Amino acid sequence: MLVIISLGGSILAKDLNPDSFISYANALSALAKKHRLVIVTGGGVAARNYINVARSVGANEVVCDFIGIDVTRLNAQLLISALGADAFPEPPRTYKDAEAALTSGKIVVMGGVIPGQTTDAVSAILAEYMDADLMVIATSVDGVYSADPQTDHDAVKFEKMTAKELVNVVMSTEMKAGSKSPVDPLAAKIIERCEIETIVMNGNDPAAVSEVIMQEGVESESITGLHPGTRIIG
Ligand code: UTP
Repeated sequence: MLVIISLGGSILAKDLNPDSFISYANALSALAKKHRLVIVTGGGVAARNYINVARSVGANEVVCDFIGIDVTRLNAQLLISALGADAFPEPPRTYKDAEAALTSGKIVVMGGVIPGQTTDAVSAILAEYMDADLMVIATSVDGVYSADPQTDHDAVKFEKMTAKELVNVVMSTEMKAGSKSPVDPLAAKIIERCEIETIVMNGNDPAAVSEVIMQEGVESESITGLHPGTRIIG
């Protein structure tokens, strides 16, 4: 299978702890023996800090986005370093370069591409462009909820949902001030358009992410004890 993993910066680069890069690298190297992998790394708190400073000194939003992209690429380079010979040595800067890099047989790791989106959208566009079999959004929440669980006690987690339902939930969450959905609206629209099978799950444990991917293709009845977040079915 070709699997695209959107790896949130809030997971991978939380506190910039080397252990987090190393444990993800170990899990991905093992996974790459079975599947072709493209990993899209987010910027996390460092991207937000840099963007806040840039905004405060007068940078416009496109400049802020370019700064955010640079930070996502730094995280990509750290993961590449941790992967060593298993990784393509540079983060591709375009979707076409990512496609070419994958022909090396190595794990491809990249960050952002163009202003005006997040790395979830990069992952979804890559998944569509490269005709991937599965996309995993490994993030700091454990799935997609009907409303923001921080503020709404009636919010329930979807075990499964259609891409259209995802778009509706994401749009209504994003319309509320201060709320942020676990999937960005552009990514949700692309998932709806290309009908890629997507799992949104907590990425804190690389072994859990890897196990969920390994279980894909196995008869669903035999899957026990897994908590794969929310599954989005085209
Ligand atoms: P992220 O994808 O990390 O955003 O990109 P995020 O939603 O904050 O995700 P987490 O916290 O890592 O999970 C960081 C910033 O980089 C810019 C945007 O400004 C984004 O907010 N960016 C990223 C782009 O402009 N284009 C891209 O293709 C990717």
